[in-house]
Amino acid sequence: MLESEHEVRETDVLVIGAGIAGLSAAVEASKGARVTVLTKASSSSESATRYAQGGVAAALSPADRPELHFEDTIRAGDGLCDEEAVNVLVHEGPDRVRELIEWGLQFDTENGELVFGREGAHRLHRVLHAHGDATGEMIERTLVDRAKALGAIELLKNRFTLRLITHEGRCVGVHAVHEQTGEITAILARSVVLATGGLGQIYKSTTNPTVATGDGAALAFRAGAEMADLEFIQFHPTALMLEGAPPFLISEAVRGEGAILRNARGERFMLDYHEMAELAPRDVVSRAIVSELRRTGTETVVLDLTHLDANYIRHRFPTISKTCESYGIDITRQPIPVHPSAHYSMGGVITDTWGRTSVPGLYACGEVACTGIHGANRLASNSLLEGLVFGNRAARAILRELPKRIPLTPEELVCDREEMDTSELAATLRRINSEHVGIARDARLLQEALRAFEAFGIEDSLPNCHPRVAEFQNMLTVSRLIARAALKREESRGGHYRTDFPRRDDEKWRRHVVFRGDVTEVRERLVGDSW
Ligand code: SIN
Repeated sequence: MLESEHEVRETDVLVIGAGIAGLSAAVEASKGARVTVLTKASSSSESATRYAQGGVAAALSPADRPELHFEDTIRAGDGLCDEEAVNVLVHEGPDRVRELIEWGLQFDTENGELVFGREGAHRLHRVLHAHGDATGEMIERTLVDRAKALGAIELLKNRFTLRLITHEGRCVGVHAVHEQTGEITAILARSVVLATGGLGQIYKSTTNPTVATGDGAALAFRAGAEMADLEFIQFHPTALMLEGAPPFLISEAVRGEGAILRNARGERFMLDYHEMAELAPRDVVSRAIVSELRRTGTETVVLDLTHLDANYIRHRFPTISKTCESYGIDITRQPIPVHPSAHYSMGGVITDTWGRTSVPGLYACGEVACTGIHGANRLASNSLLEGLVFGNRAARAILRELPKRIPLTPEELVCDREEMDTSELAATLRRINSEHVGIARDARLLQEALRAFEAFGIEDSLPNCHPRVAEFQNMLTVSRLIARAALKREESRGGHYRTDFPRRDDEKWRRHVVFRGDVTEVRERLVGDSW
């Protein structure tokens, strides 16, 4: 038995995170194993999935084929995608979407046929949506209902994972602290799945929910897992930007329906930047907005859909219409003030196409993982599909590979018990990341950021037992990794733009920046070499 002062629980498959990837993994794994899902949130539905508006990209329309979806994904990824992983995504995606429909999800239809929306960098209409712009919420509900109906999945809420337990190099569970009582539990498992989502909260302005603090990436890094592509951060060009209102996503699907971006002088500017205008890749649109803001000396540009049919817009985008209305903006009559905001991390914990990380027993799926499908820039609406496909595949691999028994470990949790208020530190960290490690970077800004992170004087290798302090440590760890990787990559590509190296340099940089166990030890790996 494990000797411990803590409560000890056991399960077969422990899934950390309850968004689309985590629930997909849990549902599939429960076909052959006891499954426990752990979330730090107080509700099973608090994840980035719930806020996803645009939809799920899948080659299901009569005009589409997986090969076309493959080509668009590869083009968006700007030379860094893993082709094998993209092939898996586009070919298995349609089946996963059909499965959701079988489980009761009603995607929007017209005359009994599925309706496909259009988003940036897709050559054709390919994006399924549900209840207009509430796609993520509908998917989350369907998966939660499915998990409940199966009756074989235990959900533990309010549990913040402090660290991954490893035994002889294998991940065998986690130590987690209860958000309210502070009670620490060791949860031992035959396999552990990280599905903790992204890290947008390290930036001042983000479309991500408050739980997106890079926890999974930091935990995996400390456990020695290989990480890659962390310098690639996608900024969504159009988050609502109003004094006193939190940033709120205005879906790219709005531009897909014909909305136009205008600068402070009322001029449509995207035609000057890219042939696809408002539907250019997100990094292009975000940088164009920043350049227009500088040129006109203002803080926001506007998204104008006042020329579109008002009834259709209210029906197609009910969440966006209502939210803007609550801030006094009738989107059918008034343009929406918008600004780019941190949206998605392309990099993360390196996995193969079955969700396996470099640490035996540890799997990762969804935004925390780096499968290679996004390369340097994610194609719009590929992330929900990624969660469905790779959550499911990780579970299938686990069921094939599950060790016979849980290896017990005598290890105690060693953690720092000093309590401190980290809210000001977090605000400073967010400001540094936004100003120095944001849409445009250069060597001086990145070096200043790294020095500022050191000056916090916070040790991030030993977990603190207090969830908010541990969360800040995670934010600091991923900030260090992102800034280091961004400093290393002396070129511009996808979601990484260096003003001192503004060109893409394939000769030197068709490779990945990889970390393993040490934030100062940066390695490189050629595209196409196996992870
Ligand atoms: C959006 O609706 O614009 C976001 C969709 C995505 O990020 O894939």
